[in-house]
Amino acid sequence: MWPIDCIEHKRDGLVLTASEIDRFIHDYTQGKITDYQAAAWLMAVYLNGMTAEETTELTKAMSHSGDVVDLSSVSGIKVDKHSTGGIADTTTLIVAPLVAAAGVPVAKMSGRGLGFTGGTIDKLESIPGFRTELTQTEFLEQVRRIGISVIGQSAKIAPADKLLYALRDATGTVASIPLIASSIMSKKIASGADAIVLDVKYGDGAFMKTCEEARKLAHTMVQIGKLAHRPTTAVITSMEAPLGTAIGNSLEVDEAVEALSGHGGKRLMTVVEAIGTQMLVMGQKAKTEAEGRKRIQQLVASGAGLAKFKQFVGAQHGSVSWIGKRPLTKAPKVFTAVSTESGYITAIHGRALGAVAMTMGAGRARKEDTVDPVVGIRLFKEVYDEIHAGEVLFTLYGNARADMQTLAQQCADQIIVEATPCRDQKPVVSEIIT
Ligand code: URA
Ligand code: CA
Repeated sequence: MWPIDCIEHKRDGLVLTASEIDRFIHDYTQGKITDYQAAAWLMAVYLNGMTAEETTELTKAMSHSGDVVDLSSVSGIKVDKHSTGGIADTTTLIVAPLVAAAGVPVAKMSGRGLGFTGGTIDKLESIPGFRTELTQTEFLEQVRRIGISVIGQSAKIAPADKLLYALRDATGTVASIPLIASSIMSKKIASGADAIVLDVKYGDGAFMKTCEEARKLAHTMVQIGKLAHRPTTAVITSMEAPLGTAIGNSLEVDEAVEALSGHGGKRLMTVVEAIGTQMLVMGQKAKTEAEGRKRIQQLVASGAGLAKFKQFVGAQHGSVSWIGKRPLTKAPKVFTAVSTESGYITAIHGRALGAVAMTMGAGRARKEDTVDPVVGIRLFKEVYDEIHAGEVLFTLYGNARADMQTLAQQCADQIIVEATPCRDQKPVVSEIIT
């Protein structure tokens, strides 16, 4: 009897049909299947897995559970980008204007941050006046006019995923590759993307702890993309240390402006170039990866990416007078910490730094919390760099109540300096999966 037979089929390791999956998601979204039934089904999926076809059907069913954005009025191949979330990951703010400047239309919906990872929408809202809520008409008109718009994700996108995610969170069924892959891909497909570039991260500061798990998730999502006719490429990147040097909303905007001005850090720019290159190739604005990479570098060097960023911020009512002139970040308290040791930085614990930034007010513990846009941490060294005693290691930006000494000590504890260079240096980009 429906829906018990669908739960039993998955429990017994059978392969579900497209219509079973579609009906299950439809009925659950409509409230015709209870949470306890859906929870049992999720646990069966968690334990028995899903085939590529089942995972694709689940993705399609969730993507059609609410609004589907129609980007057909924007000409060109709309390439979306998604990161599985990390620390000091301001890639979107850099890569989106770069590829838009190259002619790939960016019609992007982004999320807010939760926990120790930041969200693009929070970062953009640290710019005075910036509007992240546009009507669908305004959004599309802006993409047609200047080639780029980034807005907050509407609650009407993939509501089935929202319901199931909350249930997974409460039932120990989050960490399942078919469930994670379908959750991410359903939102990208409902957002109207023709093609998708994924940044799948692994390590201490990421959702997937090992490179092997990240590769598995990436392969699953690339496969869904193929079966759902949305060409998808994944870049596997390391989150063993923070990607960029800024943790905190307005600090990350400052870092994006610096990167677009040609002063981006090594790790961050490696990922920007890898993702930008894939977006240009998929958007048919570059014939080869070599050509795409060269184009990205040229757009940074010429200032075309920065000009597009400024145009984008202005179009969404954000203040632009500061761009290229002074930092956006102005915090009540600023504390600069210098290194007491000389040697090599062998590790920077990003997740713990993210937690410190969160206690300063840069992130949310709960969905309903508000963020303080100006607080955070700016690192002056990257992992594996050499450092000399007396050199600046980081600057803290705190609110009026912050105990800067204690926070500085907490941060310093996360940056490991040793006499000899790290012997197990992980490349920031390890693989491209197509
Ligand atoms: N991000 C998502 O959107 N969904 C998941 O299931 C995990 C991470
Ligand atoms: Ca992010």
